[in-house]
Amino acid sequence: VGDNDRVGGGSEILDETALTAPLLDPDFYAGDPFPLYARLRSEAPVARNDTLGLWLVSSHAEVVAVSRDPATFCSSKGIMTFEIGASYATPPTMMHTDPPDHTRYRDLVQPGFRPSYMRALEDGIRQRARTLVDRIEPGVPVDVVADLAVPLPLQVISDLLGVPEDEWPRFFRWSEAVIPGATDWPEEERAALSGEMVTYLLEAAADRRLSPRDDIISELGAAEVDGDRLSDAELGMFLVQLLVAGNETTRNMMSGGLVGLAGSPGGWEGLNARVEAGFPRALPLAVEEMLRWTTPVIGFMRTTTREVELGGRRLGADEPVLMLYASANRDESVFGPTAEVFDAARDPNPHVAFGFGAHFCIGAVLARVEGRILLEELLARFGSIEMAGPVVRAASPVIAGVKSAPVVFTSR
Ligand code: HEM
Repeated sequence: VGDNDRVGGGSEILDETALTAPLLDPDFYAGDPFPLYARLRSEAPVARNDTLGLWLVSSHAEVVAVSRDPATFCSSKGIMTFEIGASYATPPTMMHTDPPDHTRYRDLVQPGFRPSYMRALEDGIRQRARTLVDRIEPGVPVDVVADLAVPLPLQVISDLLGVPEDEWPRFFRWSEAVIPGATDWPEEERAALSGEMVTYLLEAAADRRLSPRDDIISELGAAEVDGDRLSDAELGMFLVQLLVAGNETTRNMMSGGLVGLAGSPGGWEGLNARVEAGFPRALPLAVEEMLRWTTPVIGFMRTTTREVELGGRRLGADEPVLMLYASANRDESVFGPTAEVFDAARDPNPHVAFGFGAHFCIGAVLARVEGRILLEELLARFGSIEMAGPVVRAASPVIAGVKSAPVVFTSR
């Protein structure tokens, strides 16, 4: 291992391939990845893994630098490491596009996610959240994953897409099937399920084009910019993305965030006190901390389009670069000495859980509304939250998945 790509040279030789090797092993993420992220940030914030020819970026400043420069760090060659070397005739998602294609997609779909429309969903979300929270008995352990975090976002996204309630269980299986590492289902089963999902959503898209309803499928189907519309294939592809992007991520923000709150001494009580004192930002700040601390999307990849210097390293052209959002969100140089601590009142909180720049998450408003409403409903009923057993984490290098998290709420 040489250090000849280190701009300005370095005196120590660090075996970065060995240091970063665990990050390529899905099982690593079922444990605690944060100590390794901390070591990377301090010793090699831009590190090279020679096995995959992959750069791993763990510091906040460099993650932001990569995200804000799509001309140099492109998305069209894949955003997950299993896509290294891929090339696509048509992009599988809008996340896999670069300007000007990306700008066109974004202009067409963004209006469907305008904040006023997302906030109009609030009453429906609250009703769904209330029904789930009502089932929780004080003093009796519940699994926040199965009982809250799985059903709520699924119900919300199904409502958003105008999908009937009896289809929800299928939706859940479909979205599990397409996330690498979310399940241990056989590959053929996963492929069959994701095929079923695409067919279903394409049919729904075609149906709404013919007979529009009051749902986002119809809205996106009708969206037009200068006479340009999404093709049926693009619409179907986008719906698949909504289902997947809107589910797993929001689920883990909720489950991971509640685990964070449960493990933060006085966190629940403090939050309750700030809400009762009428501090208007108490809940939004708590949701941002749930996002930062959990970072539901561990990292996304880019590919260099030219030689470039990043964090004192020289990257070649056509090299994959993995941005570790989960690490950037614990960067001490941004979040201070308490970066590893869950602090529901943290302010400011410039986390990158939704990415940064042109691809900044289109569903951020919706995810934030869901998180706030869930907290509101829980705080209204319960005086405390405590862990009641071990947290089981998913072995996924993409989604920081919580498989189960038993907690006990007590009444107020
Ligand atoms: C806590 C919940 C969520 C998290 C942590 C999250 C995270 C992210 C991240 C990191 C990106 C950036 C992708 C990139 O730079 O390559 C992204 C983009 C995106 N997200 Fe989310 N997301 C969440 C919820 C949602 C929801 C609820 C929806 C839809 C209903 C959604 C739809 C999308 C879409 C369509 C994009 C692509 C935007 C683009 O390429 O311009 N997300 N999300």
